[in-house]
Amino acid sequence: MTLLGLETSCDETSAAVLDDGGSVLSNVVLSQQDHAAYGGVVPELASRAHLRTLQPVVEQALREADASLDDLQAVAVTFGPGLVGSLLVGVNFAKALAWARGLALVGVHHLEGHLFSARLGGDGLEPPFAALLVSGGHTELIHVRAWGGYRCLGRTLDDAAGEAFDKVARLLGLLSSTSAVHGGRVVSEAAESGDPGSVDLPRARPDREGLDFSFSGLKTAVRRRLADGGGAGPSTEDVAASFQEAVVDVLVGRTEEAVEKTGVERVALVGGVAANRRLRRRLREALDSRGAALFVPEPVLCTDNAAMIAAAGRFRLLHGEGGDFGLDAHPRPPLPGLEA
Ligand code: KG4
Ligand code: ZN
Repeated sequence: MTLLGLETSCDETSAAVLDDGGSVLSNVVLSQQDHAAYGGVVPELASRAHLRTLQPVVEQALREADASLDDLQAVAVTFGPGLVGSLLVGVNFAKALAWARGLALVGVHHLEGHLFSARLGGDGLEPPFAALLVSGGHTELIHVRAWGGYRCLGRTLDDAAGEAFDKVARLLGLLSSTSAVHGGRVVSEAAESGDPGSVDLPRARPDREGLDFSFSGLKTAVRRRLADGGGAGPSTEDVAASFQEAVVDVLVGRTEEAVEKTGVERVALVGGVAANRRLRRRLREALDSRGAALFVPEPVLCTDNAAMIAAAGRFRLLHGEGGDFGLDAHPRPPLPGLEA
């Protein structure tokens, strides 16, 4: 089955085509520039931008795959979690296309998409494994016992790891000269010339059952250190490096605990923050010393993209799901296959 995947849950408009065997023929990702003046994603602007760009993005994905609408048998689309107005654009586009062309239709949970990015980019990675899913909206440790069989080992109680990077980028004034709204990459670039041990910052491990995270105190500590320092405070590079090290320490530590708890031999690192080089390196070292293997997709599959949605949708269709034209956008749906 040739399958079109669509992703419009936040501020990336993306379409991808998978061939009969599930290989990625194209994966077009358009990052919206409409939010630059506002310091964050503006939901109304995001919906309007998806409306404007989804069709041309789909056309480009078909062109790059050397395919036409006639070649498609199925369409998979993110139905949640995300911004409901943005999700609605993708879901209704997919429904209209599937209805008009007689295609199979399947809704995909965005986090299951991120989990499947590990299979796309992960050298044949198959369950069981543990996934550290770190993005702008989510920070979760998931035990993937089987595709479609998940257990949540821990999650953030407040900010997501990527959200913390974005907020610290703003505190450090690193976003003002760019059109970006996401700050992870600029913080990690500044961190390269800083000393990760120079600013003392907290490493929160919430005292609860499970392997939860908390990043809001870290962001507040950064704000306080910047305010305390006045003109003679630590350099931007030193704050960026110390902040990044604190986040990485917690993510690596918790993942090691997850490996111990589950006995898995493989770990997948997925989501936008998986593009962070320091995190990749530190996690690989930690897992190496435990004899566990790390799988990290290439950066374009880590950040939001339709190829991962198509891969998860293909799995769901092959298991007999899909075809429900009652499919609707949902801002916070539960992950299908998640054990209570
Ligand atoms: O997965 P994603 O594209 O969107 C969500 O589903 O949220 O993740 C975006 C997040 C942003 O918060 C961005 O700052 C972060 O990933 N990010 C990074 C890096 N590149 C992107 N965080 C740290 N280091 C990076 N190199
Ligand atoms: Zn995402």
